[in-house]
Order: sequence, then structure tokens, then C-alpha cells
Amino acid sequence: MTHSIDLAVIGGSGLYNFPGLENPARQSVETPYGPASGDVVIGDFAGHRIAFLARHGESHTLPPHRVNYRANMWALHHLGARKVIGVNAVGGIRHDMGPRAIVVPDQIIDYTHGRYTSFCDVEGAEVKHIDFSEPYTASLRHALIAAAQKAGVAAMDGGCYGATQGPRLETRAEIARMKRDGCDLVGMTGMPEAALARELALDYACLALVANFAAGCGDEAEISIEEIFAHLAAATAEVPPILAELLKS
Ligand code: HPA
Repeated sequence: MTHSIDLAVIGGSGLYNFPGLENPARQSVETPYGPASGDVVIGDFAGHRIAFLARHGESHTLPPHRVNYRANMWALHHLGARKVIGVNAVGGIRHDMGPRAIVVPDQIIDYTHGRYTSFCDVEGAEVKHIDFSEPYTASLRHALIAAAQKAGVAAMDGGCYGATQGPRLETRAEIARMKRDGCDLVGMTGMPEAALARELALDYACLALVANFAAGCGDEAEISIEEIFAHLAAATAEVPPILAELLKS
């Protein structure tokens, strides 16, 4: 069934349902790639139709390396979504991207492995070599930054998202290497999601919520999961107002 969906949102850690979604209807989508992370919830928000999918499942049962990114993206596309915002919890590597910062990254370095990274690695599929020089859709990124500004949230424009395998956090040496590589943020779910969106010609941008300083980048000797979730809860509260402004534009 095809709906007219103005925006799809993939919620990351800390965002398992979409606050303020009216008239929600659940859609279970069968995909050629197996099950998505759960039902897609379609409803009204800020006068528009939006689709929401919890990347890790609504009870956070899927670790980053076991998320079926292909099924998720295929399901949203199948339901009629053409613009997708991925909300991702991240660690900050750059000194000005500390806990609770909100960043709209513009580049990616992929350190993940063993994930299905393409719709082409199915027997008989057409092989597509997508241009990925700019991994996020520039117009959607800019609209997101402008929307944040209107919502009174100082979202930072640009940054390189380093995608790691997880589910463990990184060593200091790994983060030091990522810093040398040019990464500003580290997260576990940014890839292959962005590449799959491009293969389906979807507009895609990432709203990265900084939950902690990455290993060795802050003052703490250890990263506390409780703190991560406390910072995430604060940053996550800013997401609906930003997306309401985005939908208005
Ligand atoms: N590393 C990887 N992913 C993350 C982190 C981190 O420090 N914080 C939140 N997601």
C-alpha cells in the first residue's frame, strides 16, 4: 500500500517512538531482505504525514551490527517515503562537539564490516555504482539546519561521521586514529544506512545527537552508559521541534 508520506524518521538509541504523532497506524512490511526492525508507524505530525521506524526495535533489542538496514530502507521506500532523516546517537571526537550537541554531518568514513551494504549483493540484481562523494542530500541537510535554527536549536553544520561496528565503544587508540583520519563524530549506525538510501534515490540526512565524548576525548577515564542515556534524553527532546519546523518549510 502506498501512502503519501512527507517525511520518514529512523529513530536511534533513545528514540523508540515519535512523541506527538497523531492518528498512528502500524504497518508491518514484508521485504525481499527479511524483516525490518519493526512496524513502521505512520501518523500525522505538524500537519503532515510522517513514517517512523525505531532502528533498534521499539524495545532496543537489535544491536547496530544486527540491524537489517536494507529491510528498513526498503520498507520506508515501499510505503512511499522519499525523504528520510536518520536520528543517530554519537560520540563527539571534535572538542566543540561535546555531550548534547546536535550535528548535521556532511561526510562519512565507514569502518564497519560484515554488514549487507548494498541492494546489489543479491543474485541477479543490477549492479549500481552510486556517486557517494556527498553522502547526505545537501538540500535536506540545509533544510534541517535552517529548521533547527527556527526551533531555537543550535545545530552544527557539517562534520565527518565515522561509522564503527559496535556494539562495544571504541578504544582510545581507535578514536585517536579516527581523529587523524578526519572524523569529528563516531557512531555505530550511520552506515550502511546512508548508502542504501542513495541506492534507492531517497533524500537522506542525519541528525546526530552527541551523547558523550568519544574515548579519550573528554575528562572521564571511562564512559558511563547512564550518562550517555541522560545526555541522549536531553538531546532527543529537541528532535520533534526541529522536525516540526522542517515539515513547515
Ligand atoms: N562511540 C560509538 N557510538 C556511540 C558513542 C561512542 O562513543 N556514543 C554514542 N554512540
